[in-house]
Amino acid sequence: MADSQNRTGSDELIFFVNGRKIVEKNPDPETTLLMYLRRKLGLTGTKLGCAEGGCGACTVMLSRYQAEPQHYAVNACLAPLCSLHLVAVTTVEGIGSVARKLHPVQERIARSHGSQCGFCTPGIVMSMYALLRNNPTPNMADVEEAFQGNLCRCTGYRPILEGYKTFTVVRTDGFVFLVSVTLTCLYQRRDHKLSP
Ligand code: FES
Ligand code: FES
Repeated sequence: MADSQNRTGSDELIFFVNGRKIVEKNPDPETTLLMYLRRKLGLTGTKLGCAEGGCGACTVMLSRYQAEPQHYAVNACLAPLCSLHLVAVTTVEGIGSVARKLHPVQERIARSHGSQCGFCTPGIVMSMYALLRNNPTPNMADVEEAFQGNLCRCTGYRPILEGYKTFTVVRTDGFVFLVSVTLTCLYQRRDHKLSP
């Protein structure tokens, strides 16, 4: 009896998507996280581009909670569902939306015109979100490195980097200036002017 209980337990995959607990009995070993998110959960914000780890459109954040929480930006098209036991998955729907409230990572890429056709945007947003979860005060080199796996055919990257520069710190003469403070103030002044 104890043996059969163990066998039953080992066939269960338990993981979390945007805070929701999911239990899958006998999951298909060939199913990727991307297919599961899009087809089973209807979370189509995570895009299917190349399906081979080259474009970053499918980027999500995986978190493991051991002694310290660890966060990783990963390509969902390459992640087997069966590798996610006790892992927390965060998709672009999980961090904010127009209907609820945009996360600053979503808002700043929109305001800087860093999203044109928008196909790459969820992946870029999730790469930046994962970077900030691990390092709340990145420098520009950290930001550029975080996007190494994300391709954008429309923007030429400049507006994306301009938008996300607002999260970075620059160091001059021993002082640390949070660039975002300046740019956030500028955004707020513009918002103020735009409000009726
Ligand atoms: S769909 Fe292109 S990296 Fe996953
Ligand atoms: S906005 Fe079109 S691919 Fe990036």
